[in-house]
Amino acid sequence: EKGTYPHYMLKEIDEQPIVIRKILKEYSDNQGELKIDQTIVEAIKEADRLYIVAAGTSYHAGMVGKNFFERLANIPTEVHVASEFVYNTPLLTEKPMFIFISQSGETADSRAVLVKVKELGYKALTITNVPGSTLSREADYTLLLHAGPEIAVASTKAYTAQVAVLSILAQAVAQSKNIVNGIDLSHELSIVANAMDTLCEYREEYEQMARDFLSDSRNAFYIGRGLDFAVCLEGALKLKEISYIQAEGFAGGELKHGPIALIENGTPVFALATQENINLNIRGNVKEVVSRGANACVISMKGLDMKGDAFVLPEVHPLLTPLISVVPLQYISYYAALHRGCDVDKPRNLAKSVTVE
Ligand code: M6R
Repeated sequence: EKGTYPHYMLKEIDEQPIVIRKILKEYSDNQGELKIDQTIVEAIKEADRLYIVAAGTSYHAGMVGKNFFERLANIPTEVHVASEFVYNTPLLTEKPMFIFISQSGETADSRAVLVKVKELGYKALTITNVPGSTLSREADYTLLLHAGPEIAVASTKAYTAQVAVLSILAQAVAQSKNIVNGIDLSHELSIVANAMDTLCEYREEYEQMARDFLSDSRNAFYIGRGLDFAVCLEGALKLKEISYIQAEGFAGGELKHGPIALIENGTPVFALATQENINLNIRGNVKEVVSRGANACVISMKGLDMKGDAFVLPEVHPLLTPLISVVPLQYISYYAALHRGCDVDKPRNLAKSVTVE
């Protein structure tokens, strides 16, 4: 039920801090230590490479997950769009392990890959919000998102839940491999939940940002590097699917290889700056677009912020920034769609679960 909320999407964005806390609870043992079913951890440890398969927003969560498995647990990881994987299967390693990410657990493109994976005799884990869903039943293992029903077609809380569960899984594997990475993940995720609470208090600012940057635009660009790039793809998807503004995410460094030709006077460009090692690079990219007339909206993280930034995010662990940088982008998309009179919860041409290939 959406209660006093005008739209499910707004309610689901607001629920994200609660969902992170729920996930922390569901994946903690009696001592408050994060815990994942040991059989799943072992299956991942045995693999020489992980193959994450998903579609849409879940694919974007997978892009973030790759960083967790590689940086926390030292496991090479590839992320694939399900519809591509099924007909253009990459050369697999000797001991692959598959991770399917799907809010609904019903996405036909992902199911087609899972059928193939099973035929080949490989193991698969499904990370889903829906217990008993097809992808869950057909995989060897399941991890639940515990995000509660997601009704709005535009996925919000399922994305942050996917990212959080992936971080917990990667850290559980790291611990089991005795890798010391110095991250107290449960503590860091609590900080994320608190940061999300703070972010939910700035709705008026996001609404104003939607007005300032997206009022009359036919298109919008999102630029970022590393983890920020993954979030840019998600921010652009969110905007295009509900507001019908043409929106594209680019890796900051790719701008000069083509996309910068699209920048005109007033073109909105959202830039994310949450990563210290590439802060100056992305700032350079912002300068490049501004000098060509772009209306740049820089969203940075505290400590990396600079004069003129449109919004400064509370500080969280650098690996977990995708959980919070996405929040303003979700709200901005929501308000942009609202201002255009779009059907926020049920955008045209889209279904909540895509059960045809
Ligand atoms: O249920 P799934 O996570 O498998 O769905 C995948 C995509 O269809 C989904 O994320 C879609 O891109 C959303 N509408 C994005 O907001």
